[in-house]
Amino acid sequence: MPAAKDVEKKIEALRDKIRHHEYLYYVLDNPEISDQEFDRLMQQLKDLEAEHPSLITPDSPTQRVGGKPREGFVKVRHSSPMLSLDNTYSEEELRNWERRVHELSGRKDVDYVCELKLDGMSLALIYEDGKLARGVTRGDGTTGEDVTLNVRTVRSIPLSIELNKVKKAGVPPNFEARGELLMPTAAFKKVNEERERNGLPTFANPRNFTAGTVRQLDANITAERRLDFFPYILLSNGRTYFERHWETLTGLDKAGFKVNPNRKLVHSMDEVWAFIQQWEAKRDSLPYEIDGIVVKVDRIAFQDELGFTGKAPRWAIAYKYAARAGITKLENVRWQVGRTGKLTPVAELAPVAIGGTTVRNATLHNMDEIGRLGVKIGDYVQVERGGDVIPKVAKVIDDKDHPRGTQEIEAPEKCPVCGTKVVRTEGEVDFRCVNANCPAKLLGTILHFASRGVMNIDGMGEALVTQLTERGLVKNVADIYKLTKADLLSLERFADKSAQNILDEIDKSKELPLERVIYGLGIRMVGERTAQFLAEHFGSMEALANATVEELQSVNEVGPKIAESIAEFFSNPANQELVKRLQKAGLKFSGEKKERGTKLAGKTFVLTGTLAKYTRDEAKKMIEDAGGKVTGSVSKKTDYVVAGADAGSKLDKAKELGVPVIDEKALEELTD
Ligand code: IVH
Repeated sequence: MPAAKDVEKKIEALRDKIRHHEYLYYVLDNPEISDQEFDRLMQQLKDLEAEHPSLITPDSPTQRVGGKPREGFVKVRHSSPMLSLDNTYSEEELRNWERRVHELSGRKDVDYVCELKLDGMSLALIYEDGKLARGVTRGDGTTGEDVTLNVRTVRSIPLSIELNKVKKAGVPPNFEARGELLMPTAAFKKVNEERERNGLPTFANPRNFTAGTVRQLDANITAERRLDFFPYILLSNGRTYFERHWETLTGLDKAGFKVNPNRKLVHSMDEVWAFIQQWEAKRDSLPYEIDGIVVKVDRIAFQDELGFTGKAPRWAIAYKYAARAGITKLENVRWQVGRTGKLTPVAELAPVAIGGTTVRNATLHNMDEIGRLGVKIGDYVQVERGGDVIPKVAKVIDDKDHPRGTQEIEAPEKCPVCGTKVVRTEGEVDFRCVNANCPAKLLGTILHFASRGVMNIDGMGEALVTQLTERGLVKNVADIYKLTKADLLSLERFADKSAQNILDEIDKSKELPLERVIYGLGIRMVGERTAQFLAEHFGSMEALANATVEELQSVNEVGPKIAESIAEFFSNPANQELVKRLQKAGLKFSGEKKERGTKLAGKTFVLTGTLAKYTRDEAKKMIEDAGGKVTGSVSKKTDYVVAGADAGSKLDKAKELGVPVIDEKALEELTD
């Protein structure tokens, strides 16, 4: 048996090693070892600690576990009040704020730090000698609750920081880090879905969920829910420690915290405004929710001069983005028929402004979803809109201010467009119209053909296509190319100029490459990617149309079902005629044959986070050019996850499934 001192040393060395890997994994999102290896280290430590329980310390990585449920939380007074922020909603208000800053500080050369306004809850972490001593909720700002056991389960919160590292970061060994505790969107969705399946009430948003999670009396539950923490304040004896806010963020970063990387030090309000706009456009790419931008005066000396009003500092301001959820009345439900004949229930709503647009329709997905929501016509509903997602009905509002509706939503019996009896295949949720000549299918087909990702005929939206099909001017996609100015002028709301614009757009579409034309044909199971492979393999529409099922199957990712579908399409005389007419119209029927690299053939990749050198499309192209495939979600079939900065749930998933995670350098090597 080794001497007690040796065991202690061994345990400490193992802990340091694990802490280092935890930091790489949870803070930097950049692990160096596999999950299995990590688990092995952890197991070694657990075994050693089990043999020598007297050596267990609260900052050991094994202690990120819940512990026994408690009776309640102890109240703790904050070292200094935890303040909130004043909000602004317009550029004008923001500039007024700057004017006050100039006036009150008596200077104009003020630098600002822009940060994301993370939509979670604020939390104070007290470190003593580099060790996490306490985690306290904001509470009423003066007194919060001790939630130490819960916050210890948050992987990105260091339980202890080497004093050496603290020193190097310029941070004192006793300090308080304040910041935002949040639940990444994917984790939120996952837990909510699980609760729903188990018949438990769901949470309205990740913020409420975070608050509910950190206050669980049983911290085991907190541990399961994968919260994340981003600090933005560093105090020592209740006062800001550094001289500039920017230094605070860098210091926290160096000390090993997960400081949000999407921050900027700027010298003017114009730059602040640019930051605000940039993130408003990009907010959906983040793995967590933000509700605005926080602007802070950089110099702490200026901050001190500016002071506070009531509960908020004068030296900081929150610019809030417009809300993206709203409550409105469900007035009716109509069934929309898609290109494939699928019927989707669409909620017709009393108009409601959400995130800068007026929403009148939202999807209800299918009959199962209607049942799940328990929604009736006349109900008040919460409607949510993600940036580029179709608005959806999220839940029914059921309180004293919102009376319930009474009219049941009935499943469709007939196609609302052509009146054909609808079919619901056993085991499927969707109803379908099976009439091949249903005008709704035609509408969907034309809209698909003209859409941005296909033939990109700008202006050819639903209003125009509806008129064109209803009047019989367009009976198939080839008819688009025989439209005349007189045809367009005969329609509502068309003048010479607008008619000419459409004709120009139609003309322009003829320049688009073969793969778009193939995609535009609307062949069942032939999506964008398959169309591209087909174009590259055959090099011409003619070769594709004449290919046998066997030949078709030699194309990347084309299996027997897709091959069958393609062959069937081209064997139909009406389709042959259609293709001929498109050729006559002058669309691109040939392209370059290209054999893709085979280095990554059969390999599936998932991209997550922001890469430094490449955009997502560029990275995708690199992988595809080498014969690989990029998909949207991580599964056991994924071969690699390429993770950049701020990678979110996909990274967690990869780790959970043991999928290798690589960085962009490794990607370059793989695709080289
Ligand atoms: S600074 C005295 N920075 O917003 C300054 N707050 O509406 C206090 N929040 O209670 C906060 N992101 O929970 C700051 N980058 C950020 C933030 C942020 C989110 C929250 C915080 C605060 C609330 C005020």
